[in-house]
Amino acid sequence: HRERVRAVLSASPLVPVIAINALEDAVPLCQALVDGGINVLEITLRTEHGLKAIEEVRRAIPDAWVGAGTVTSVAQYRQVEAAGAQFVITPGVTESILEFGVTSEAPLLPGVSTVSELMMGYALGYREFKFFPAEVAGGVPALKAFSGPFGDVTFCPTGGIRRDTAKNYLALGNVQAVGGSWLTPADAVACKDWPRITEIARGSLADL
Ligand code: 3PG
Repeated sequence: HRERVRAVLSASPLVPVIAINALEDAVPLCQALVDGGINVLEITLRTEHGLKAIEEVRRAIPDAWVGAGTVTSVAQYRQVEAAGAQFVITPGVTESILEFGVTSEAPLLPGVSTVSELMMGYALGYREFKFFPAEVAGGVPALKAFSGPFGDVTFCPTGGIRRDTAKNYLALGNVQAVGGSWLTPADAVACKDWPRITEIARGSLADL
């Protein structure tokens, strides 16, 4: 489990947080990101198309790591696994999700914003977490503080991170990847400007 999570976090320093408004966009949008060098994709359940999008992208882009985001219940966890999600990201933690994630097929990257939530996951063996919402929960200084008591924990911060601030997070020893929606701007997606998405992905990687 931990190996899979670590493989995902080390596969790409940037993790796009994707919301699919039109199902037909799922594959070309994800392909555009992959073409730009990003092969880890977090497809969220924020829209009704999330599950189907995970299924289609898994089939169409076998080389990418396709994960599910915004999973907030065990029922959803089971659904995204059935759809083929290779990893699962939650915005926060519940006891039941943390426990389910210990033995689930797709490993869990649980979201935390406080030390106490982190400790709940830590007690169950989790050492990799999403830090959300990163900017409002303390940003870079909070992650530096976490590294004292929890030196063996690695984070993927998301929430309020932008192209020009991503590298501040990635400079930290306990951050392996950062996530965000800046990689998939709504206006570019709305007009299906896939070359622009590829350019944003490539440029964001180059800026790191
Ligand atoms: C997430 O769920 O990770 C966030 O919504 C992404 O945050 P952003 O939209 O501020 O990048």
